[in-house]
This record gives sequence, structure tokens and C-alpha cells, in this order.
Amino acid sequence: MSKITAAITGVSGYAPDYVLTNQELETMVDTNDEWIVSRTGISERRILKGENQGTSAIAIPAVLDLLKKTNTKPEEVDLIICATTTPDMVFPATANIIAAETGLVNAFGYDLQAACSGFLFALATGSQFIETGKYKKIIVVGADKMSAIVDYTDRATCIIFGDGGGAVMLEPNTEGLGIQDSLLKSDGTGAQFLHMKAGGSRRPATQETVAAREHYAYQEGQQVFKFAVKGMADVSAEVMERNNLTADDVAWLVPHQANKRIIDATANRMGVGSEKVMLNIQKYGNTTSGTIPLCLWEYEPQLKKGDNLILAAFGGGFTWGAIYLKWAYDPK
Ligand SMILES: CC(C)(COP(=O)(O)OP(=O)(O)OC[C@H]1O[C@@H](n2cnc3c(N)ncnc32)[C@H](O)[C@@H]1OP(=O)(O)O)[C@@H](O)C(=O)NCCC(=O)NCCS
Repeated sequence: MSKITAAITGVSGYAPDYVLTNQELETMVDTNDEWIVSRTGISERRILKGENQGTSAIAIPAVLDLLKKTNTKPEEVDLIICATTTPDMVFPATANIIAAETGLVNAFGYDLQAACSGFLFALATGSQFIETGKYKKIIVVGADKMSAIVDYTDRATCIIFGDGGGAVMLEPNTEGLGIQDSLLKSDGTGAQFLHMKAGGSRRPATQETVAAREHYAYQEGQQVFKFAVKGMADVSAEVMERNNLTADDVAWLVPHQANKRIIDATANRMGVGSEKVMLNIQKYGNTTSGTIPLCLWEYEPQLKKGDNLILAAFGGGFTWGAIYLKWAYDPK
């Protein structure tokens, strides 16, 4: 029997309607469009507005569209993994909330938290279930409502992040398509540079933590930048090398959209030209777990069966990694 690989058989995305432009940010903090664009590549990002709207409000429309696009009945789905750093609630898992709202009555579900590498880690995890032969349809979601944990008085972080996400369907493939290799890393000594100080079990919410603005993402940008440039470029180059891929063999680099300069450094290290790099950071900013599925969704019409894709990410933790996959279908 031929080997079972896990192939992406459909992708969908969702970006909330509200557009937060650099010009609007200029009215909120001491910054300007030129600084933001030159340092990050970001011009605007989307924000999820409305009461009682959590990350599931981003994921649900993406999953419903994915089910439609892939002609999947909700009850056929075996598992849903939701990568997110901004779950609707500490518990239960946002995956369960999404499953309930989209009719995935036979699926089990759980969340996976690996900051900006969350979608990659979840994709690698989901692929293992498919490779066993026991699971046939798995939805992997990457979504974040970063506006829930961004301090809009901190100009160093509020310019970067946005809300959005997407979902992919994973199914078994016996033609050698789908996920070929993954290289995932983490280093907890990096936690000090990017974290949320309160709201977890170490420092539960108190009036003091709220007053001290400790429920927002804390970041030492330069340190994160330094590690991200090296981490994302290293794993991308290594995954190419150990699969004997040259730059010519790579059809697309699908990088986490953290900062245009980090993306450029990764592409340079791989020797891949900018025409092969998926890029939408200018429109969405850094949506954490959402960036890679949002890229795949937007570029889906350009992807061909057999295309070699390298997905790469870096995030808080630190976490980082790369996945090499062969795209499994032509544009529909
Ligand atoms: C955050 C980031 C854009 C800042 O860019 P940078 O070039 O490192 O800028 P610095 O932090 O060195 O700050 C340079 C100056 O710009 C100022 N500055 C910071 N944010 C600013 C803003 N939004 N507008 C204008 N000036 C700003 C700083 O105060 C500093 O001023 P000073 O020199 O007078 O002290 C950059 O470090 C970065 O992208 N880091 C990685 C972040 C990331 O990807 N996080 C997610 C992980 S996946």
C-alpha cells in the first residue's frame, strides 16, 4: 500500500471588515505612516468590532466557507485543531466553540498555543493524525483577535498586530502530495522578550494588574526581530537542504507575516525571488496564527498541483519552524 501523506484539500480565510489604517493610528499614538511602512511593511490591519466577539467569530465564517468549498458535510469531520493565542475564553477550547457553531458533531477538538508559529505547529500535528490512516478529515484553524491583547497606547506594538485567520482541510493522499517534512523548534528562554504579564495562573487578573496594563502583549521589539530573522531563515534553509530543494524547486515561500524585513531576510537566505513570496502584511499586519492561512487563501488561485511550498514562521516563546509541502490541487 502506498504511503499516506496529509494534503491540504481546501483553504478559506476571514478578515473582519473594519480597516485600521496607519493614518488612524497617527491620531491614537505618536507615530506616522512613513515610519510604520518603512520599519514593518504594514499600511493597514483589520479589527474585529462588536460585543462578545472573540476569535471564534473569525474562525466560524472561515470554517463554514471551507466546508462549502470542499463539499464536506460537517458531520464528516473527525478533528478540529484551533491554533490561537487569543482564545474566546481561557477554557473551554475555542475549537469546541467553533465545532458547535459549524455543526462538527462527530469531531473532537482542541486548541494549540504556539504564538505566531501556532498554525505551523497545528498543521504538523494534524498531519500526524492523517498519516496514521485512522482520520480522514481534519480542519486546522489559525486565527487570532490580537486587538483583544494589544495596548493601543503603546506605539511599539499597536502598529504591528491585526485580527484575522483562516482554515485548511487536511485529507489523506496516496500520490505523494501534501506535507513532506516539518522542522519545528522552541526555546523558552525567549519568553522574556514577548509575553503577556498577567491573566494566566501565575498572575491572575486583579485590579492592580489591570491598572498596570499587564493584560496586553509585552514585546522587546529589537530582540524579537534579531531572533526572528535568524530563526525563520535558518529553518527554511535547513528544510530545503535536507529535502534537496534548490531555490528553483521552490514555487512559493509562505512566510509568517511579522515584518516585511524578516520576510525579505528569509527569502534572501533561501535564494528565492520576491515574485515567489506570498505577501499580504501591508493589508493585515501580523495576525499571529492567522497569517499563513490568510496567505494560502489569497494566493490559492495561483497555486498548482505539485507546487513545492515552504511555510515558515517565528513567534513568541520563542517558537519557530518550517514545513515543506506539495500543493495537492489545481485552481478550481
Ligand atoms: C517593533 C519593530 C517594528 C520596531 O522597529 P525597530 O527598528 O526595532 O525600532 P526600535 O525599537 O529600535 O525603535 C527605534 C525608535 O523608533 C521609536 N518607535 C517605536 N515605535 C514607533 C512608532 N510606532 N512610530 C514612531 N517611532 C517609533 C522608538 O521609540 C525608538 O526611538 P528612539 O530611538 O528615540 O529611542 C521591530 O523591532 C520589529 O518588527 N520587531 C519584531 C516584532 C515582531 O515581529 N513581533 C512578532 C513576533 S512574530
